[in-house]
Amino acid sequence: MASDLQSYAILFLIWLISTVLVWTIFSNFRTTARHFPPGPIALPIIGHLHLIAPIPQQAFHKLSKRYGPLIYLRLGSVPAVVASNADTAREILKTHEAAFASRPQSSAVRYLTYGSSDFSFAPYGPYWKFMKKICMSELLGGRTLDQLQPIRHEEIRRFLRLIHKKSNGGEAVNVGQDLITITNNIISRMTISRICSDTEGEAEEVGKLVHDVTVLVGTFNVSDYIGFCRNLDLQGLKKRYKDVHRRFDAMMERIIKEREEGRKMKMERGDGVKDILDILLDISEDESAEMKLTRDNIKAFITDIIVGGADTTAITMEWALAELINHPDIFKKARVEIDSVVGKNKLVEESDVQNLPYLQAIVKETVRLHPAIPVILRESTRDCKIGGYDVLANTQVFINAWAIGRDPNYWVNPLEFRPERFMPSNESNPNHHVDVRGQHFHFLPFGSGQRGCPGTSLALEVVQTMLASMIQCFDWTVVIDGETKTVNMTEGPGLSLTRAHPLMCVPIARANLVPFN
Ligand code: HEM
Ligand SMILES: *[C@@H]1O[C@H](CO)[C@@H](O)[C@H](O)[C@H]1NC(C)=O
Ligand SMILES: *[C@@H]1O[C@H](CO)[C@@H](O)[C@H](O)[C@H]1NC(C)=O
Ligand SMILES: *[C@@H]1O[C@H](CO)[C@@H](O)[C@H](O)[C@H]1NC(C)=O
Repeated sequence: MASDLQSYAILFLIWLISTVLVWTIFSNFRTTARHFPPGPIALPIIGHLHLIAPIPQQAFHKLSKRYGPLIYLRLGSVPAVVASNADTAREILKTHEAAFASRPQSSAVRYLTYGSSDFSFAPYGPYWKFMKKICMSELLGGRTLDQLQPIRHEEIRRFLRLIHKKSNGGEAVNVGQDLITITNNIISRMTISRICSDTEGEAEEVGKLVHDVTVLVGTFNVSDYIGFCRNLDLQGLKKRYKDVHRRFDAMMERIIKEREEGRKMKMERGDGVKDILDILLDISEDESAEMKLTRDNIKAFITDIIVGGADTTAITMEWALAELINHPDIFKKARVEIDSVVGKNKLVEESDVQNLPYLQAIVKETVRLHPAIPVILRESTRDCKIGGYDVLANTQVFINAWAIGRDPNYWVNPLEFRPERFMPSNESNPNHHVDVRGQHFHFLPFGSGQRGCPGTSLALEVVQTMLASMIQCFDWTVVIDGETKTVNMTEGPGLSLTRAHPLMCVPIARANLVPFN
C-alpha cells in the first residue's frame, strides 16, 4: 500500500514537472515563432513578474544589458515590451505614434479616474483629443500660467519664510516634505483655489489624498496580471481604492457645489482671475462646445493634475538640491550667475530664468539623471513592427527614460552630474542644444509626442524659479554627528523616482539675506 502511494506521488510529480516544462517551452517557443523581441525565459503563470520589482527602471536596465534595446516580457498573462535606447523609443513615440498613444488600465486607475473618464489614462480617441486641445490652449496654456503666476510667487515666498524660520533654529529640515507641501499648494491653488498647508479640515485633506492616490497608483496589483486571480483581492487593495475614491469624490463634490452656487449668484471672485475649475465649468456649460464635459470628467481631470503635478515637481527639486550639495563647485557657479544677473537686493523671479542659462542646464542635468517618471507607460492599440520585431496590439510598452538618459552612446561620462554638457554657449559639446520636450529621443524626461507631459511648462517654471531662490537665499549642508557629509543618492522603490533616504539638511541663511517677505 505504502509503495503504491509512493509511486502515485512520484507519477504525480513527474506529470506536474513535465506539464510545467512543456508549458514553459511552448510559451517561449511561441515567442520566437512570432518573431517577438528577445527576453529571458518565462516562469509558468507569473511569467516575468518576479523580475521587475522593486525598482523597475533598474531591473529593466539590467535586462537590457543582457537582451538588447527591445525586450519581450510576459507579466502574468499580459504581454509587454521594454524599450531601452533612443532608436527604439523614436520608433515607438514618433514613427508609430498613433499605435502607442494609449496607456494600460490597471484596476487602481479604473477606480481612481472615474472609470478612465480622466485625461492621463483616457484611451487615445475623440475625448482625449478634445481635452488635449483645451489643456494646451486654456487649462495649462501660457495665458492661464501667466494669470496664475502670483500664486506661484506667493508660495515660493511662503517656502522661503518657512525654511528661514527653521534655519534660525539650526534644525535639520526634511526638504522633500516641505517641497511637497508647497507644490501641492501651488497646484491645488491653481486648480481649485484651495490650499493644503493650513491645518484645518478640508485643506489638509487635499494633501493626504494626493499622497494616498499616489501610493495606490504605484502599488502593483498582482491580480491585474494573473488571469485566474482576476476576481480575487490578494492584497486587500479594493477597500483602499474605494475609500480613497469616496473621500476624494466627497471633497470635490463639496467644492464644485460651492462654486456652482457662487456662479448662479454671478458672484465675481475676489480678483476676477479664473482657476482651472472655473475654466472647466465654463466649458461644461458651453452649449456650442464640441463635446460635453461631465461632472466625472471634471473631477477626474482635477485628480490627474493634482496627482501628476505635485509629487513629480517636488521630487525633481529634491534630487536637484541633493546633487548641488554633493557638487559645491556647481552650486557656487550657479550662485555667481544668479548674483550677477539678479543682484543681491531682489529675490529671483520667473522672468529672470531666461537669463540664467547655467541654472537651466542644472535642471536639465537633474532630469536627465533623475527623471521623476523613470519609465514611461504606453499600450499598443494595433500590431506593429519595432526594430524588426513583432509587437502585437494590447501589449504594454515600457520606455525606460531613466536608462536612455544614461546611455554612454549619447552621453559622455553618463553617470556624472555635469550641467556644462547642456550649456548652449559651448558648441563643442554634442548635447549643448538638446531640449527637454521630447524632440531628442536620447533625452525623454517629459515623454514625447502628443501624449507627452502637458505640464512641462508649468513644471519648468516652478522647478527653475524655486531652485534658483533656494540657491540665492541659503547655503545647504548635510550634517550628521557634527560632520559634514555627502548625500546618499540611492533610489527607492516605486513607479516614481523616490529617494531611499529623505534629504535631511541644514539650511543656513546668507549673511546679507535677499528680502523675501
Ligand atoms: C518635473 C515634473 C514632471 C515630470 C518629470 C513629468 C513627466 C511626465 C511624463 C514622463 C509623462 C508621460 C509622457 C508620455 O507618455 O510621453 C507625463 C504625463 C503627464 N503629466 Fe507630467 N511631469 C511633470 C509635471 C507635471 C505637471 C506639473 C503636470 C500638471 C499640472 C503634469 C501633468 C501630466 C499629465 C496630465 C500627463 C498625462 C498626459 C496624457 O496622458 O496625455 N505633469 N508627465
Ligand atoms: C486587481 O485587479 C483585478 C483585475 O483587474 C481586479 O478585479 C481587482 O479588483 C483588483 N484588486 C483591487 C484591490 O482592486
Ligand atoms: C566645452 O566643452 C568641452 C567638452 O566637454 C570642454 O572640454 C571645454 O572645456 C568646454 N569649454 C568651455 C569654455 O567650457
Ligand atoms: C546608501 O544607502 C544604501 C542603502 O539604502 C547603502 O547600501 C549604501 O551603502 C549607502 N551608500 C553610501 C555611500 O553611504
